[in-house]
Amino acid sequence: MLTSLYKWKVRFLKSPRGCAIWRRWQNFRGRPVGNYSHLRDLIRQHVNGKSFADIGCMWGVNGDYSFHAEQCGATEVKGVDVFGPTPEFLDKKAKLGSDVEFILGDASHPSVLDQIGTVDVVLCAGVLYHHPAPFDLLVALRRICRDTLILRTSTIPEMTGLLNAAVYWPMLNAKDRALWNLSSLGLLRQEGITEDFNPDAGYGNWFWGLTPSCLASLLTTAGFWVARREAEPFAQTFICKAVDSPFAHRLPDEEEAREMAAEISSQRIALPA
Ligand SMILES: C[S@@+](CC[C@H](N)C(=O)[O-])C[C@H]1O[C@@H](n2cnc3c(N)ncnc32)[C@H](O)[C@@H]1O
Repeated sequence: MLTSLYKWKVRFLKSPRGCAIWRRWQNFRGRPVGNYSHLRDLIRQHVNGKSFADIGCMWGVNGDYSFHAEQCGATEVKGVDVFGPTPEFLDKKAKLGSDVEFILGDASHPSVLDQIGTVDVVLCAGVLYHHPAPFDLLVALRRICRDTLILRTSTIPEMTGLLNAAVYWPMLNAKDRALWNLSSLGLLRQEGITEDFNPDAGYGNWFWGLTPSCLASLLTTAGFWVARREAEPFAQTFICKAVDSPFAHRLPDEEEAREMAAEISSQRIALPA
């Protein structure tokens, strides 16, 4: 029953009419409604006099948000991606006489994080749902973010009564994936949804459909405080502030680890699950 209602909700929201009704309803309730085209304004609002990194800067935009940040007064700009730079990026950089630095690498990889260093403002748009371990990517973003994270990502509608839920898309069969096909809203191709999961496509696949509540909880656990949310039926834009992470597993040194092990054994609290 709950599943059927939820599927109905998803189908309604991914119909152009349902999506438009939802947007009007949110506006009527005074809730901020997001839009991909807001990204430029959000960057303008946050980057003047700040250092900036754009994670996933290339596909379809050729570093545009990085150049925009530089033109909005960012002091130092780094664009990061797993491919590129494209000829369009290089042309634009030359024409603008831009100092944007392109870094080729996986933003969840420690050596790439070292190369990026820390910056005041991080933009990460259209990347999180392409990562099989979204928490790890958020922790990586937290490592490079001194102050503000502008995160935009695909999400799935909230599951009323089942907060923090998520759907893992790889290995679903074609019938079960069809629910998540957003071609009705104009998306052309969703690798791993409109076709089978393709291991060779790596981060090109869609991995996780996070509900907004799940995304907010992951952000909090990774060390971000959500200052503002702009919602859409199938996407969220979150403006977050970097705070101390409430989660950290501290690894003991060898001597301490042995003492812990002896203590656990003497108390007989570790039983087979
Ligand atoms: C859907 S595009 C989004 C492009 C742009 N940010 C936008 O919002 O229009 C995702 C981009 O992120 C890049 N990407 C995916 N995973 C990444 C990772 N782990 N590290 C760095 N870049 C990544 C892809 O190559 C691609 O350029």
